[in-house]
Amino acid sequence: MAEEVLVVEDLCKAFEQPDGRLQVVDGVSFRMTAGKSAALTGESGSGKSTLLQLVAGLVQPDAGRIFISGHHLGNMSDAALADFRRRHIGLIFQQFRLIMTLRVMDNIRLMAALNQSVDPEHEAFLIETLELGDQLQKYPAQLSGGQQQRVGIARALNHKPLLILADEPTGSLDSNTSSTVSGLLIELAAGTGAALLTATHSQPLAETHNSIFRLQTGRLDMPTC
Ligand SMILES: Nc1ncnc2c1ncn2[C@@H]1O[C@H](COP(=O)(O)OP(=O)(O)OP(=O)(O)O)[C@@H](O)[C@H]1O
Ligand SMILES: [Mg+2]
Repeated sequence: MAEEVLVVEDLCKAFEQPDGRLQVVDGVSFRMTAGKSAALTGESGSGKSTLLQLVAGLVQPDAGRIFISGHHLGNMSDAALADFRRRHIGLIFQQFRLIMTLRVMDNIRLMAALNQSVDPEHEAFLIETLELGDQLQKYPAQLSGGQQQRVGIARALNHKPLLILADEPTGSLDSNTSSTVSGLLIELAAGTGAALLTATHSQPLAETHNSIFRLQTGRLDMPTC
């Protein structure tokens, strides 16, 4: 049986808002195994980014449990959680969030260098597959949006995370670049054996994943494929 990378059980999260308490995540449970991808869909404000941030341990749940490769995030201290995230999770953001003062090469190497886990062969493979070889000495501001997103993907995969969390990873890209970048992301995630969870508004992008989870009024529909 494939290794279970992510187990989410009965997760709940509410936010206080000026007009009252908003239950954004209301008893969500799902599982993901190594090498599989799932898209998280739902209307704007349905809680996709919140759910990704909960899974990344960046936001604390009100109730429920999150296990990544058997490790219960709720049992970790802040320092242990930060260390675990740096080692085992790859984060990809819609707005790239590259470090603008670092060259492309140093952005790509950032997490792996922090973990002292640089694997030159794996890094070279990512650079070649994502066609970034000519960009390494540039700064992010000198790249197009599609190129910057490919740097973001290389950075998220370079330290060989168990779990990749991507929030609208192609939301800022034109449709051609978007399908190239998302295709690479899914291929690379599967190739490295990572589980990939992608929040997206795009139905065509969602359909390229192994499963689709739809968030509605805080709850998750069962996978549709
Ligand atoms: N820190 C916070 N404090 C209060 N409310 C919040 C906070 N973060 C998110 N929310 C609320 O939670 C709801 C879900 O937000 P979230 O960003 O998770 O939605 P989303 O599905 O990612 O939306 P989008 O598709 O627009 O990115 C929204 O109503 C938002 O206003
Ligand atoms: Mg969002």
